[in-house]
Order: sequence, then structure tokens, then C-alpha cells
Amino acid sequence: MSLDDVIRENWATRFGFILAAVGSAVGLGNIWRFPFQVGQEGGAAFLLIYLLFILIIGLPAMLVEFSIGRRTELSPVGALREFGGDAWKYIGGLFMLIAFLIMSYYSVVAGWVVRYFVGSLTGGYAEDPEAYFLTVAAGTDALLFHAIFMAATIAIVALGVQRGIELAAKAMVPALVVLMVAVAVYAATLPGAGEAYAYYLSPDFGVIADDWQSIIPSAAGQAFFTLSLGMGIMITYASYLAEDRNLAEDSAIIIGLDTGIAFLAGLVVFPILFAATIGPADPGAGAIFVALAGAFAEIRFGLVLGAVFFFAFALGALTSAISLMEVVVSTVIDEFGVDRIPATLAIGGGMFVLGAPVALDGDLVLIDLYDQLAAEILLVTGSILLMVLVAWIAHDRALDEIQRGVGDIGSLGQIWIWLVRVPVLLALIATLVLAIMGYYEFLTGPFAEWLAG
Ligand code: TRP
Repeated sequence: MSLDDVIRENWATRFGFILAAVGSAVGLGNIWRFPFQVGQEGGAAFLLIYLLFILIIGLPAMLVEFSIGRRTELSPVGALREFGGDAWKYIGGLFMLIAFLIMSYYSVVAGWVVRYFVGSLTGGYAEDPEAYFLTVAAGTDALLFHAIFMAATIAIVALGVQRGIELAAKAMVPALVVLMVAVAVYAATLPGAGEAYAYYLSPDFGVIADDWQSIIPSAAGQAFFTLSLGMGIMITYASYLAEDRNLAEDSAIIIGLDTGIAFLAGLVVFPILFAATIGPADPGAGAIFVALAGAFAEIRFGLVLGAVFFFAFALGALTSAISLMEVVVSTVIDEFGVDRIPATLAIGGGMFVLGAPVALDGDLVLIDLYDQLAAEILLVTGSILLMVLVAWIAHDRALDEIQRGVGDIGSLGQIWIWLVRVPVLLALIATLVLAIMGYYEFLTGPFAEWLAG
């Protein structure tokens, strides 16, 4: 049984579709990557630009993917061929490459989450949260938990038992929200909370003026990453959709939930880091882990809470990881006629190998090497291509599709097409240029130093 069969059954209800899309969207992007980017890019200034991007680029981009998927009822390679002509199918190759790359380090970070679940049971991180992160983030521990997480994803994708996982994930989103609200309330009582909120919530326009060249590509990359956009996952999900659904409304629900969960993560992380007098950017990729471990070590029954939290978090990462691996596996099955189990083993094994250097790098430089390339350059490129296709080549069909289930939306549809056609595309192309410049700086700066040892 493939994901296709499972999804075809599930999508009978609107709730099933939204649930699966939310399962893919909500993951490490919200709880790990979001506060990490906010810390790196200077706080509220980043938050403001990020929210703007979600609204003016994330929403139209999601509609683009939904309209392609529902119109063609095909997965990305076939959908692009039908919508754009034969040459467009090669973009499917780009999508697979992106999924392969993202999953390789996604699994390393998800391995940290599983490690912290175990750490909650043993109390391992209570002593010194910052030092603990450094010991588990790279080395044999990290490699072992990377292997465990990858093996779990392989097992689920190979055996096609996604449905059980999707059901478990139903409990994951509410559990995460409840626990995060609880920890955020605790964090609000800490000394330094006021200063943290100022950092997180009140934008300093001077920071935007100084750092826009790195804030803009980070914010765009984060928007695509967290919404699972830019590589055709949402095309696939919408291809199983019944026709009488309001795509714009569904997008708004998915985006609202995803953004809300990320926002909460910031309310948790920054007060705790400020209370511990750790700078918001200092722990970098470890921000959420250091902050949460510090909090759980202090609160009554904190380690129990921690165990539940990291379990729910790992489940969230798993539902996203399944979507990443499944794109590659199903395309390889369809295009090359390989059986599901060997295909999954080979692909998952390859992803593990590609991620292994990240798990062994104690300087946390390789994770930036992979992550910046994937989120800021490749996802943005993927989205630009999809938008060109919908807004410039197949706009009539896309517009027609958006209106199905809604009725005539009058000039709103034209506005959407024109928004995507010019301002959104121009903004994304500018973003891509900034991202490439930033990546070049990273390659010739921190990465070159790292290589030189
Ligand atoms: N959105 C997921 C998260 O926030 C990660 C993810 C799953 C993803 N599928 C994707 C990111 C496709 C980009 C593209 O954790």
C-alpha cells in the first residue's frame, strides 16, 4: 500500500486533507528552525518580515501548489508535464533533490529531539543545559539518534503504515499547543521576560535597515520551509482533493495553525534564554534545546513534562519526515518501476549517509551549509518556477481551478494572478539573488575557515 492509497481513502473528509497538510507543515520548522532564525537575524525585525512573507508570498504560493495539484490530480512530475508541457517534468528532478537534501539533516535534528526525549527520562540535561546540547548534538550520540529516526521513517514509508501515524499525529498538534502554552506561561514569570518580549516583539527598524540583506532571504526561506512549499508536496496532497472545496480557505487554516505554533515557540524560547542570561543568538541551532532543557529542569514535574513535550515534538517531526521521504520514494517507484521496499531502503540509506557528516560536525557549520542551500536557495527556486508556470503559462486553468467550489470570485482571482505574476515573482527573484550572495559569503567565510580547520 502506498501513500497514494492511504491518502485517497483519507481525503474523504475535508478534515483529513487539512490534517495531512498540517502534519507535513508542522515540524522542526516551527519549533526548532523558527526561533533559531529569529535569534540569528536579530529578533522582532525578522519576525515582522517573516509574517509579511507568510502573508504576501506563502499564501499565494500555497494556492499555486493547490491549484496545480487539484487540477491535474497528479503528483508533481506528471502534474508539471500536464500543466506546462514535457520540459517541465524535469523540475520534478529538482524537487527530489531538494527533498533528499532536506531529509538528510532534518533527520539529524529530529535525532536530537529523540535524544532529548530520552534525556527527559534519565534527567541527563538537568545539570548544564548548554553543555549537554554540545555533547549530544554531534558525535556518536548524534549519529546513533540520526540512525534511529531515519530507520523509523524508512519503516513507516516502506510498510505504508502512514495512517496509524497520521492518527497519532492528530493528538500531536493539540498536545504540542497545550504544552507550549503551559511552558510559555511559566516563561512569562521569569525575570528578564520583559526584555525578551521587547527583543522578540518590538521591531527595531534600525536592524532591518542594517541587515535586510540577510533578513530577507532567511525570512523567505523560513516561510517556504515551514509551510512545506517549493517542492511539490502540497501539489501531491491537493491532487487527492474533492472538487467542492474552497482552496483559499483551507490555505488560510493551514497557514494560521502553522504560524501560530511557530509564534508560540518564540514565546517559550526567548524569555528562558534571557533569564539564563544566554544571548538569543548564542546557542544558534541549539536555542530551543538549551532553552527547553533549562526550563524543564526548573519546573515541578518538569522532566515528565519534558518527556511528553519531546515525544509530541518527535511525532511532529516524523509526520513531516514521512512527507519528505515519500515524495522521493513514490517518484522513483513511478518513474523507474522499482518495488517500494527496496526503493525506500536505498533512498533512506542514502539520506542517512548524506546526513552523517552533519551529525559528526561539532562546529555546527555543515548544518548551515545544507540548510541555507536547501531553504534559502532551492526552495525559493522551486517556488519561482511553479509561480511562473501558474501565473504566466497556465493562468486560465489555475484561475478556473481556484474558483471551483467557491463560485465566481470576480476580480479577486485576477488580483491573485497579477500579484503572483509581477510583484511576488520580482520579490522572490530579488530574494534569490540575496540568498546566493549570502551563501557565497558563507562559503568563502565561515565554511572556508571550517575547511581549513
Ligand atoms: N514543513 C516541515 C517543517 O516545518 C518540513 C517539511 C516537510 C518541508 N516537507 C517539506 C519543508 C517540504 C520544505 C518542503 O518541519
